[in-house]
Amino acid sequence: MTKIIIKRPDDWHVHLRDGVMMEAVLPYTARQFHRAIIMPNLVNPITTPRLADEYKKRILQSLEANTEYSKFMPLMTCYLTDETSGDIIAEGFKGEYFFAAKLYPANATTNSSMGVTDVKNLVPVFSVMEQLGMPLLIHGEVSDSSIDIFDREYVFIKEILMPLINEFPKLKIVMEHITTKEAVEFVRINRKQVSATITAHHLIINRTNIFDGGINPHKYCLPIPKREVHRLSLREAATSGDSCFFLGTDTAPHRIGDKESSCGCAGIFSAVNALELYAQVFEEENALNKFEKFASLNGPAFYGLKANEDKVNLSKKKWRVPDLIHISDGSSIIPFKAGETLDWKMGSSNG
Ligand code: NCD
Ligand code: ZN
Repeated sequence: MTKIIIKRPDDWHVHLRDGVMMEAVLPYTARQFHRAIIMPNLVNPITTPRLADEYKKRILQSLEANTEYSKFMPLMTCYLTDETSGDIIAEGFKGEYFFAAKLYPANATTNSSMGVTDVKNLVPVFSVMEQLGMPLLIHGEVSDSSIDIFDREYVFIKEILMPLINEFPKLKIVMEHITTKEAVEFVRINRKQVSATITAHHLIINRTNIFDGGINPHKYCLPIPKREVHRLSLREAATSGDSCFFLGTDTAPHRIGDKESSCGCAGIFSAVNALELYAQVFEEENALNKFEKFASLNGPAFYGLKANEDKVNLSKKKWRVPDLIHISDGSSIIPFKAGETLDWKMGSSNG
C-alpha cells in the first residue's frame, strides 16, 4: 500500500503547555488532528471552570492567525486535587467548560505536586461524575517511592483501579498511556467501563531503548516504557482494532535544557510526526486496515461523539524528522525520532 486515507483522527491526550511553548507546538497538533483532549497540568494547574475557559481561549487565539487550523477543537480537562468539590465538577461539566477530569496521583509525573494524595478524598467527586456521565482520565501509576518504577502501573491497577471500578461501576474511565500487558488485560476485561489510550512511543520503544548507546533523555517519559513483552502486547492491542483502545499521543514537550539535565524531565514530544509513527507501526503489524478504527473511530465512540467528516491522507514517502523545533524565546525542543527517516508522510487535508 502506498497511500492511506482515513477520517481525520483526534488526539485524546495532549500537553500543549502555555505561552511561547504553546505557540511553537500547537500548530503541529492542529495540523494532524481535529479534536484534542488538553491536559491540565500547567505550572498553575487548571482546577476551575474559569481557568479552563481562559486556557481554551488562549489556545484558540494562538491559532487565530492561521485559518488552516481554525476548525481545531480543544477539549478541556479539570485537574483534580484533594480539594476539588462535586459542585465545581458539576458546574464545569454542565457549563461545558470541562469535557473530562484528570486524576494525577500526587507527584506521579510533571506538574503533579498538587495532584491527589488519596483517591478516598475524591469519593464525592466520583459520585457526581458517575451521575453526570463525565469521563475520568487517569494517570495510572502509584507514586510511592518504595514501589519500583517499572511496577507502578501494575500496582495502581491492583490497589487503586480495581477497588475504584467496584465502588463506581458506572463511572466512565480512561486509563491514559498504558504501558503493560496487565493494563491491556485489565482494560479488555472491564471494557464496558474502561478504555485506554496508547501512545506512539510506547508502541516503538521498550525500556532498553532508553539506554541505547548511553542514556537518552529524549526517550524518557512516564509511565516509563517497559520490557519488550509489554511493548508487543501494546502493539497487539492497538492494532487489534478493539474499540476499547484508541489514539492518545501524550505529546509532552520540554525544552532541551530541561531534558538534558542532571535531573531531566519526563515527556516525549511527538506532535511533529504522530500519525506517521502510528502508521508505521500498523504497517509493520500488517494491520493498516485497523488504523482508522484506532485513530479516528474508537475514541469518538467511547466519548459519545461523531467521527470527523473530513479526511487525512498519508503517503509512502521517506522524510527526515526535524532535529529541532524552535521556540520564539530562543530555546528549542527535540522531537521523538529527531533526524531519523520515517516511511509515511502526512499530506494535505481532504485527500
Ligand atoms: C507529561 C508531561 O510532561 O506533562 N510527561 C510524560 O512523561 N508523559 C505528564 C504525563 O502525562 O505523565
Ligand atoms: Zn500526559
